Amino acid sequence: MKSLITGVAGFIGSHLAEKLLAAGHEVVGVDSYLDNYPRRFKEQNLAGFIDHPNFTFIESNLLQLDLPAQLRGLAYVFHLAGQPGVRSSWGKEFSRYTENNIAATQLLLEAAKGVKLNKFVYASTSSVYGDTDDLPMREDGGTRPVSPYGATKLAAEHLCHLYSKAFGVPTVALRFFTVYGPRQRPDMFFHILMGALLRGDEVPLYDDGKQTRDFTYCADIVDGIVGAALYPGQGETFNLGGGSEISLLDAIGLVEKVSARKAKLKRFERQLGDVRHTSARLDRARSQLGYAPKVDLEQGLAAQWQWIGSLKA
Ligand code: NAD
Ligand code: UGA
Repeated sequence: MKSLITGVAGFIGSHLAEKLLAAGHEVVGVDSYLDNYPRRFKEQNLAGFIDHPNFTFIESNLLQLDLPAQLRGLAYVFHLAGQPGVRSSWGKEFSRYTENNIAATQLLLEAAKGVKLNKFVYASTSSVYGDTDDLPMREDGGTRPVSPYGATKLAAEHLCHLYSKAFGVPTVALRFFTVYGPRQRPDMFFHILMGALLRGDEVPLYDDGKQTRDFTYCADIVDGIVGAALYPGQGETFNLGGGSEISLLDAIGLVEKVSARKAKLKRFERQLGDVRHTSARLDRARSQLGYAPKVDLEQGLAAQWQWIGSLKA
């Protein structure tokens, strides 16, 4: 079975590629090395499998690639490429979000129209929900993003749904909840915190630390993506969360425990675009995708701490 992974040099895309290659699949990976963070991280993400005989890497922007040619003969498309990050999506940065999250997805869906795919899996986000009292967040609950990022990811989710209904493209959208673990992006909190602990630096803490997240370990997300690929339906949306909700302060306590270091927190006000609480209702993913998150936060943070110590400068 041959699959395309977009965003393959990224945090989640590189884990998915490893999993598929280990299962004997052929993988074509596309990535533009977008400068949302330094290229050296992405090259390290790819290093373990770039020479794998079943892997082909295409360094290209989806907006410039001959996508119909790339999709010919594929069984699966895993569309993970995008411009992530909630707090940085305001102002003049917004065009990066419309291009890489909306326009790129539309081009890929257009190219998928005539292809007999088994599944087109789209990486959506918990950020589509915004702030809500209706917790845990349900797939059929309201969507009112509080960041421009969330608005672009929701627009692309709508496009996936439209192309499923209008053209039969077998799309499934997965709403990931704050993913962590080895290779986590350097703009994300645990990466920032662990880097600061290694260097003895201060850590910026936004808001009062009582905000909560349903942190999800990368390997659990990958299992959910594989479950979605095998799911017989289409045009649907599923949450993929970690199955537990924790405050940022308690999560910091766990990082202090696994690293045996004390964080020097420096408080800043709540950032525009940040959701106060996230929590995933998982009934649908559990029953329809066989999703069952296995890695608890302390265990996953220990793996991330070990990885961050091994990163090359
Ligand atoms: P990442 O930045 O590490 O990976 C995304 C990759 O896509 C990058 O390597 C980038 O170079 C590539 N890319 C971006 N635009 C491209 C384009 N136009 N053409 C080709 N390549 C392009 O991010 P990640 O954390 O691995 O996130 C992967 C996906 O999951 C994103 O779509 C993101 O919105 C979504 N997501 C992530 C999280 C999370 O917590 N990490 C949560 C919810 C949703
Ligand atoms: C993460 C990803 O970055 C998004 O791409 C993704 O779409 C989103 O999850 C999601 O689940 O939808 P976020 O929850 O903001 O977004 O993840 P982090 O960047 O790790 O932030 C977690 C918490 O730490 C937030 O409350 C944030 O305000 C806080 N934080 C972050 C700090 O206190 N200090 C920092 O320096 C960075």
